[in-house]
Amino acid sequence: MAEVQLSGVRKRFGLVEALRGIDLAIPDSAYVCLLGPSGCGKTTLLRCVAGLETVDAGQIRIGSQNVEALEPFARNVGLAFQNYALYPHLDVRGNLSFPLRAPRRRTEFGDGEIEQRVKSIATLLQIDALLDKPIVALSGGQKQRVALGRALVRNPTVLLLDEPVTHLDARLRHEMRVELKLLQRRVGTTTIHVTHDQLEAQALGDLIVVMRDGLIEQVGTPDELCTRPATSFVASFVGDPPMSLLTARLGQEAGVLSLRVGAAQLRPGERLGRLLDGLCDQDVEIAVPAHHIALGHAGDEQTIAARVQAHEWVGRELQIVVALNGSPVPVRLRTQQRLALRIGDEIAIRLNLGSAHAFDSKTGRRLQSSAD
Ligand SMILES: Nc1ncnc2c1ncn2[C@@H]1O[C@H](COP(=O)(O)OP(=O)(O)O)[C@@H](O)[C@H]1O
Ligand SMILES: [Mg+2]
Repeated sequence: MAEVQLSGVRKRFGLVEALRGIDLAIPDSAYVCLLGPSGCGKTTLLRCVAGLETVDAGQIRIGSQNVEALEPFARNVGLAFQNYALYPHLDVRGNLSFPLRAPRRRTEFGDGEIEQRVKSIATLLQIDALLDKPIVALSGGQKQRVALGRALVRNPTVLLLDEPVTHLDARLRHEMRVELKLLQRRVGTTTIHVTHDQLEAQALGDLIVVMRDGLIEQVGTPDELCTRPATSFVASFVGDPPMSLLTARLGQEAGVLSLRVGAAQLRPGERLGRLLDGLCDQDVEIAVPAHHIALGHAGDEQTIAARVQAHEWVGRELQIVVALNGSPVPVRLRTQQRLALRIGDEIAIRLNLGSAHAFDSKTGRRLQSSAD
């Protein structure tokens, strides 16, 4: 168990700058999810911590030790990847004991201790009955447990998981998530879990690190990311469904503020008006939670005309995706009304801006009042 600290970490592959200066402090025993879209650098960051990539600049500390110069095996990290990467020619026991038998470590563990460690990790993961089975005979969930067992068998100080449940079907993915969390609580190993699935990150992470394009956008608890997103990117990426982003232009007539979105004029209300103070005639981004967007009637106050792009019943809710004039990204809303919608229909949506966030349109950073 140990804390992990990265400062100024950079990594380039040819012309691609995969990590553009990462500063991150992961507390001892925390379960941390690295979250971000494909290609944002999550795997590269994990591989740098593991020592499978050398960093171009910056420091990585595990506990009190600087590890940039250490070989992977000397960092004492446990790794499990999405494709399991199990040794197909070995049985489960062979896979679990492999990290203890690898040539460089032969002197570390005697046969008796290896057998004892393999047994206890197999019991922990409930795969004791599978120890003599060949890898090809295992289901996806069983393979995932073996991969986890192999990562944990050396009692690593840090557990590194790259999309560990992505390959599993929905039901098993859910089960394995619960198990991962329970397992980590029991062993207490500092864990870095890479995922592109924000629901998975929300379910598992004590802390979530949102990455974008080789940089960290925000580090926060699941709740902080939803209630206090640092940037419009975080607001539009996290949440179920995520908030909708509108591009608006702030105007003022006879001392009254208005937000122009496409052809519609909205009143920002007192709170948002305070946040937008001084930004007249500028573009701003507004993020509105899905439960503050409802169906409305054309012509009513605070409504905007929108065109239906997609709709889908999920349980008892109708989830609707609409396009707005003048807004770059689709807006999502949910309703329990039984409607017969067709793609291309024009509908009116009503926005409650009471808890909307506002972002600087250039930097993407959230505008805050002194009370925040
Ligand atoms: N070995 C490599 N060689 C060249 N480019 C790479 C290599 N590994 C990663 N990249 C590039 O670095 C960027 C980040 O990749 P990666 O860390 O795999 O992202 P993620 O895991 O978030 O999907 C991508 O543009 C990817 O194409
Ligand atoms: Mg990846």
